[in-house]
Amino acid sequence: MAGRYEETFRRSLADKERFWAEAAEAVRWEKRWDKVLDDSRAPFYRWFTGGRLNICDNALDRHVEGGRAEQAALIYDSPVTGTKRSYTYRELRDRVARIAGGLRKLGVERGDRVLIYMPMVPEAAMAMLACARIGAIHSVVFGGFASAELATRIDDAKPKAILSASCGIEVQRIVPYKPLLDGAIELARWKPSACVILQRPQGKAALTPGRDHDWEEWEAGASPADCVMVEATDPLYILYTSGTTGQPKGIVRDTGGYAVSLPWSMKNVYGVEQGETWFTASDVGWVVGHSYIVYAPLLHGCTSILFEGKPVGTPDAGVFWRVISEHGAVAFFTAPTAFRAIKRDDPDGALIRKYDLSKFRTLFLAGERADPPTVQWAEEQLKVPVIDHWWQTETGWPICSNCVGLERLPVKHGSPTKPVPGWDVRVLDPAGHEAKPGEIGALVVKLPLPPGSLPTLWNADERYRKAYLDEYPGFYQTADAGYIDEDGYVFVMTRTDDIINVAGHRLSTGAMEEVLAAHPAVAECAVIGVDDELKGQVPLGFLVLKAGVKQSPEEVVRESVQLVRERIGPVAAFKTAIVVQRLPKTRSGKILRGTMRAIADSKEWKMPATIDDPAILGEITTALKAAGFAANAKEPA
Ligand code: COA
Ligand code: AMP
Repeated sequence: MAGRYEETFRRSLADKERFWAEAAEAVRWEKRWDKVLDDSRAPFYRWFTGGRLNICDNALDRHVEGGRAEQAALIYDSPVTGTKRSYTYRELRDRVARIAGGLRKLGVERGDRVLIYMPMVPEAAMAMLACARIGAIHSVVFGGFASAELATRIDDAKPKAILSASCGIEVQRIVPYKPLLDGAIELARWKPSACVILQRPQGKAALTPGRDHDWEEWEAGASPADCVMVEATDPLYILYTSGTTGQPKGIVRDTGGYAVSLPWSMKNVYGVEQGETWFTASDVGWVVGHSYIVYAPLLHGCTSILFEGKPVGTPDAGVFWRVISEHGAVAFFTAPTAFRAIKRDDPDGALIRKYDLSKFRTLFLAGERADPPTVQWAEEQLKVPVIDHWWQTETGWPICSNCVGLERLPVKHGSPTKPVPGWDVRVLDPAGHEAKPGEIGALVVKLPLPPGSLPTLWNADERYRKAYLDEYPGFYQTADAGYIDEDGYVFVMTRTDDIINVAGHRLSTGAMEEVLAAHPAVAECAVIGVDDELKGQVPLGFLVLKAGVKQSPEEVVRESVQLVRERIGPVAAFKTAIVVQRLPKTRSGKILRGTMRAIADSKEWKMPATIDDPAILGEITTALKAAGFAANAKEPA
């Protein structure tokens, strides 16, 4: 007999419209949809066309009216500032309504974009919900990005207003955000008409008269705004993520599909009930923060914890356990890299045992491959199920998971278990044929994608089609490679493009190469991701200098590292580059990045049949060894 997971999964694919129409009953609609799945513009599919709703109404007002007014909606826990503050659903609704009114006063209307560049303070979540309240489209940019990256996003999204803060707080330093924002506006061709700056006591910013507003005064002077009903297919937000070039992709999220799929996932994927406390340690700048710090827990009537700190160093590797125990979280979601950092500082789990974790039921990991030793360590120490699950900025919620809310399946380390209901995952070979169990190929999802996933890219339908749909007609290409085993478990092995994953952050090596190539002394360059014990991967640059360059190689390396930090941001964690004489290439001139990566990581590799000059790989191996990589580099197979 099929289990609950199997039965639900089958139903989700056999009758998609009925399945998602049932899930949509959990949402408050002003007008119900005309069509659950609209395929009139396939392969551009839309969900719940004709439906009208407001997602902020569903996340806040509905709960205030429905008996949760005095329940905590958001708990802000900030070890870096020594602050803890709780907001009930009523308090959160009231502040969000006022901020929405403030946006209105700045001329922001339905469909206008608002860029949010903020640290992990409650006002960041309020700002997102305030945009949603009046039908404006928010675009949150992670604080670890530098001015140039921010400028690219400003030019693409063309925001009417920008909401920011005077500073962010890292373990060792205060990061002034305002100079980064001013620099970005200076660089951008598009100029926002207003900026609102939250002044933090840890570092105040100078405001630009005529453009900048002080958040506190601005909010205090605003009248609360009511929810504006929007079409289910209206964009809720744009979230930029790394593509294969320096031009990031603006992932669009629609309103109705997201409002339906997220609360469904809270119950069925994560096994969390309404009213329970949920903790995601990520950042509102990432998709995990959008979906599982802000929208999903609130849509589901949970209490969500917004944490401003790091897994270690704020003040120690026990901080997550302190937060879970103090606020009674039943589930916790973070990236494997955070666990590697905790394991390094507290290998025997002594800090875990300091806290009462009796309410804590499940740990969820995502954002990068969860390495089995880390998963095992977490299982042994925490004695709760540790669930690896796979998803992407594009998908908005998990593609594969052990859906503990439906039925807990046996865990296979190294696998995020099976496709979540709604996700028809296949493995295809280069000719587009389905691979046999155990055979590696491209991981794809049969169209249409379920509600809540991206309908397109911002102002770039053609780019969406080219990047995701063209290679395997009828399927969404995830750009991850992997396999499905005999039992239907999915294994996600590697990206098929130049994206690397550094401490759970998605970065493009192509974008880093574009920055390095701009250094006047650099003739050619390549960036690869090499294995790193803590961060999973870190970028490593190879530089070929122009003939006659007067600068020393050390100086060029130093400047290159600085350049990436300035142009992309500290989050790129680009710290190492090696100067080499030449780069290994195929006869047609393609740089052999994969081979360089295998050598750097001391993995098995084959001499590529198409290599132009095999001797170069010897030179690269020597340079890598001198720089501390490729310690056990293998000879070619
Ligand atoms: N604003 C400004 N700068 C930021 C920033 C922010 N919001 N977030 C990170 N940075 C900076 C850091 O200060 C650091 O700068 P440095 O080079 O001067 O030290 C750099 O960006 C890299 O940061 P980070 O990746 O956080 O590395 P770290 O060495 O400071 O910490 C970990 C290592 C493992 C503790 C940390 O990466 C971590 O907590 N990872 C979990 C990530 C996560 O939750 N991802 C979400 C996906 S679900
Ligand atoms: P992002 O868009 O930042 O969420 O990054 C998405 C990418 O992270 C995916 O395409 C994968 O390469 C990787 N990823 C996320 N979760 C997992 C996981 N559980 N296992 C393996 N890789 C993952």
